[in-house]
Amino acid sequence: MQKPQAILFDLDGVLTDTSEYHYRAWKRLAGEEGIPFTHEENDAHLRGVSRRESLMYILRDRKVTEAQIQEMMDRKNRYYTEMIKGMTPADLVPGGKQLLQSIRDAGIKMAIASASKNCRTVLELLDIINAFDGIADGYSVANTKPAPDLFVYAAGLTRTPTSACLGVEDADAGIEAIKNAGMLALGIGPQERFHRADKVLPDFANSSLQDILNL
Ligand code: BG6
Ligand code: MG
Repeated sequence: MQKPQAILFDLDGVLTDTSEYHYRAWKRLAGEEGIPFTHEENDAHLRGVSRRESLMYILRDRKVTEAQIQEMMDRKNRYYTEMIKGMTPADLVPGGKQLLQSIRDAGIKMAIASASKNCRTVLELLDIINAFDGIADGYSVANTKPAPDLFVYAAGLTRTPTSACLGVEDADAGIEAIKNAGMLALGIGPQERFHRADKVLPDFANSSLQDILNL
């Protein structure tokens, strides 16, 4: 692939460490419901997964009504939004600001492809909401990752063919979504987390734009 014409970023766990807040909010809810839930389970099964599917994993085969599901999703979201309130631009990952600037300087388009309905709030708190040509979030498409829809939608927002896009993800479900969309996939995190990533980097801290484009 030539230099990509657009880079599509997942948000939680890629540009900021909100995945830890998602975990803590689920942990609190699980505790209140008397359900055991560990950090390892969170990493293996919930990373990048939608709010409803995350709750379904935690509840497993418990019988619950739709009203109870809604109440629990709302409760978890209250805990989560309470936790992110104090976020500031300092919560952008190390190297993030410089990376976004060098992508802009290189004339490459950028969009967000996040499953979160809190995506815009987090981007505002990080003060990077205006850095992107488009924002695809938890309200944009019906099918969640690993379906390709969110990344295809984000590519459309940048008016770039999917084959000329590079997707960046911290979750294996997200890498699947990127590959299912026919894009190049960069995984951020430990190598063993990913199955179909074209390249994996531990983080952005010591990575230049060239490292990222060098797939
Ligand atoms: C993803 C997170 O970005 O968004 C998941 O990785 C989260 O942990 C999902 O469940 C949905 O987020 P929200 O904010 O709509 O509950
Ligand atoms: Mg993520």
